[in-house]
Amino acid sequence: MSSILVLNGPNLNMLGVREPAHYGSQTLEQITKNLITKGNEKKLTITAFQSNSEEALITRIHEAHSEKVTFIIINPAAFTHTSVAIRDAILAVNIPFIEVHLSNIYQREEFRHHSYFSDVAIGVISGLGSIGYQLALDAADQWLKNK
Ligand code: DQA
Repeated sequence: MSSILVLNGPNLNMLGVREPAHYGSQTLEQITKNLITKGNEKKLTITAFQSNSEEALITRIHEAHSEKVTFIIINPAAFTHTSVAIRDAILAVNIPFIEVHLSNIYQREEFRHHSYFSDVAIGVISGLGSIGYQLALDAADQWLKNK
Protein backbone atom coordinates (compact mmCIF):
# COMPACT_ATOMS: atom_id res chain seq x y z
CA MET A 1 0.00 0.00 0.00
CA SER A 2 1.39 3.38 -0.98
CA SER A 3 1.86 5.93 1.74
CA ILE A 4 1.57 9.65 1.03
CA LEU A 5 2.74 12.39 3.36
CA VAL A 6 1.02 15.78 3.03
CA LEU A 7 3.19 18.58 4.38
CA ASN A 8 2.06 22.16 4.99
CA GLY A 9 4.33 25.01 5.98
CA PRO A 10 3.97 28.18 8.04
CA ASN A 11 0.68 30.04 8.50
CA LEU A 12 -1.33 27.38 6.69
CA ASN A 13 -2.84 26.45 10.06
CA MET A 14 -4.61 29.83 9.70
CA LEU A 15 -6.47 28.86 6.50
CA GLY A 16 -10.11 29.88 6.67
CA VAL A 17 -9.13 33.08 8.49
CA ARG A 18 -6.00 34.06 6.62
CA GLU A 19 -6.36 36.35 3.55
CA PRO A 20 -9.35 34.50 2.04
CA ALA A 21 -8.99 36.42 -1.23
CA HIS A 22 -5.69 34.58 -1.76
CA TYR A 23 -6.27 31.33 0.08
CA GLY A 24 -10.04 30.67 0.07
CA SER A 25 -12.33 29.83 2.96
CA GLN A 26 -11.57 26.16 3.63
CA THR A 27 -9.66 25.33 6.79
CA LEU A 28 -6.60 23.09 6.70
CA GLU A 29 -8.58 20.56 8.72
CA GLN A 30 -11.28 20.40 6.00
CA ILE A 31 -8.68 20.12 3.24
CA THR A 32 -6.90 17.31 5.11
CA LYS A 33 -10.14 15.47 5.87
CA ASN A 34 -11.07 15.50 2.17
CA LEU A 35 -7.62 14.19 1.24
CA ILE A 36 -7.86 11.34 3.73
CA THR A 37 -11.32 10.37 2.38
CA LYS A 38 -10.09 10.49 -1.21
CA GLY A 39 -6.92 8.61 -0.25
CA ASN A 40 -8.91 5.84 1.43
CA GLU A 41 -11.01 5.43 -1.74
CA LYS A 42 -7.78 4.94 -3.65
CA LYS A 43 -6.32 2.58 -1.02
CA LEU A 44 -3.60 5.08 -0.17
CA THR A 45 -2.44 5.80 3.36
CA ILE A 46 -2.47 9.56 3.96
CA THR A 47 -0.55 11.19 6.79
CA ALA A 48 -0.64 14.96 7.25
CA PHE A 49 1.68 17.33 9.08
CA GLN A 50 1.70 21.12 9.38
CA SER A 51 4.33 23.20 11.09
CA ASN A 52 5.35 26.81 11.36
CA SER A 53 8.92 25.67 12.01
CA GLU A 54 11.52 24.89 9.37
CA GLU A 55 13.29 22.48 11.72
CA ALA A 56 10.11 20.50 12.41
CA LEU A 57 9.37 20.17 8.68
CA ILE A 58 12.92 18.95 8.00
CA THR A 59 12.71 16.40 10.83
CA ARG A 60 9.34 15.18 9.52
CA ILE A 61 10.84 14.72 6.03
CA HIS A 62 13.73 12.70 7.53
CA GLU A 63 11.22 10.50 9.39
CA ALA A 64 9.39 9.89 6.11
CA HIS A 65 12.48 8.04 4.92
CA SER A 66 12.41 5.45 7.73
CA GLU A 67 8.60 5.19 7.42
CA LYS A 68 9.01 4.28 3.75
CA VAL A 69 6.70 7.07 2.60
CA THR A 70 6.31 6.67 -1.18
CA PHE A 71 5.26 10.20 -2.15
CA ILE A 72 5.09 13.70 -0.64
CA ILE A 73 2.60 16.47 -1.40
CA ILE A 74 4.02 19.70 -0.02
CA ASN A 75 2.91 23.28 0.27
CA PRO A 76 6.06 24.81 1.75
CA ALA A 77 4.22 28.18 2.08
CA ALA A 78 6.68 31.04 2.68
CA PHE A 79 9.55 28.52 2.90
CA THR A 80 8.98 27.96 -0.84
CA HIS A 81 10.86 31.17 -1.47
CA THR A 82 13.55 30.89 1.21
CA SER A 83 14.42 27.36 2.27
CA VAL A 84 17.44 25.66 0.77
CA ALA A 85 17.36 23.49 3.92
CA ILE A 86 13.91 21.98 3.21
CA ARG A 87 14.85 21.50 -0.44
CA ASP A 88 18.00 19.65 0.68
CA ALA A 89 15.98 17.49 3.12
CA ILE A 90 13.58 16.37 0.41
CA LEU A 91 16.48 15.64 -1.93
CA ALA A 92 18.27 13.74 0.85
CA VAL A 93 15.38 11.30 1.35
CA ASN A 94 14.87 11.04 -2.42
CA ILE A 95 11.05 10.82 -2.17
CA PRO A 96 9.18 12.09 -5.25
CA PHE A 97 6.94 15.07 -4.54
CA ILE A 98 4.42 17.52 -5.94
CA GLU A 99 4.53 21.18 -4.89
CA VAL A 100 1.13 22.79 -4.25
CA HIS A 101 0.16 26.42 -3.76
CA LEU A 102 -3.37 27.63 -3.17
CA SER A 103 -2.68 30.98 -4.82
CA ASN A 104 -1.03 31.58 -8.18
CA ILE A 105 2.41 32.62 -6.96
CA TYR A 106 3.25 34.07 -10.41
CA GLN A 107 0.38 36.59 -10.21
CA ARG A 108 1.68 37.94 -6.92
CA GLU A 109 4.70 39.83 -5.61
CA GLU A 110 7.95 39.18 -7.44
CA PHE A 111 9.57 37.60 -4.36
CA ARG A 112 7.01 34.78 -4.65
CA HIS A 113 7.95 33.98 -8.25
CA HIS A 114 10.99 31.92 -7.29
CA SER A 115 10.59 28.49 -5.70
CA TYR A 116 13.42 26.40 -4.26
CA PHE A 117 11.31 23.30 -5.00
CA SER A 118 9.84 23.53 -8.51
CA ASP A 119 12.90 22.38 -10.46
CA VAL A 120 13.18 19.16 -8.45
CA ALA A 121 9.43 18.45 -8.12
CA ILE A 122 7.54 15.90 -10.21
CA GLY A 123 5.09 18.74 -10.84
CA VAL A 124 3.71 22.00 -9.50
CA ILE A 125 0.10 23.10 -8.96
CA SER A 126 -0.43 26.78 -8.23
CA GLY A 127 -3.53 28.97 -8.19
CA LEU A 128 -6.34 26.42 -8.10
CA GLY A 129 -7.19 26.81 -4.42
CA SER A 130 -7.82 23.78 -2.23
CA ILE A 131 -8.71 21.65 -5.29
CA GLY A 132 -4.96 21.75 -6.01
CA TYR A 133 -4.34 19.28 -3.17
CA GLN A 134 -6.92 16.85 -4.59
CA LEU A 135 -5.42 17.14 -8.07
CA ALA A 136 -2.00 16.48 -6.56
CA LEU A 137 -3.34 13.34 -4.90
CA ASP A 138 -4.82 12.10 -8.20
CA ALA A 139 -1.52 12.83 -9.96
CA ALA A 140 0.52 11.10 -7.23
CA ASP A 141 -1.72 8.03 -7.45
CA GLN A 142 -1.27 7.85 -11.24
CA TRP A 143 2.46 8.49 -10.99
CA LEU A 144 2.88 5.67 -8.44
CA LYS A 145 0.85 3.28 -10.60
CA ASN A 146 2.93 4.07 -13.70
CA LYS A 147 6.29 3.89 -12.01
C1 DQA B 1 1.41 29.77 -0.61
C2 DQA B 1 2.09 30.92 -1.37
C3 DQA B 1 3.26 31.47 -0.61
O1 DQA B 1 3.87 32.54 -1.32
C4 DQA B 1 2.82 31.99 0.74
O2 DQA B 1 3.94 32.44 1.49
C5 DQA B 1 2.02 31.01 1.50
C6 DQA B 1 1.06 30.17 0.80
C7 DQA B 1 0.11 29.31 -1.30
O3 DQA B 1 -0.39 28.25 -0.93
O4 DQA B 1 -0.42 30.01 -2.17
O5 DQA B 1 2.09 30.95 2.73
O6 DQA B 1 2.30 28.67 -0.60
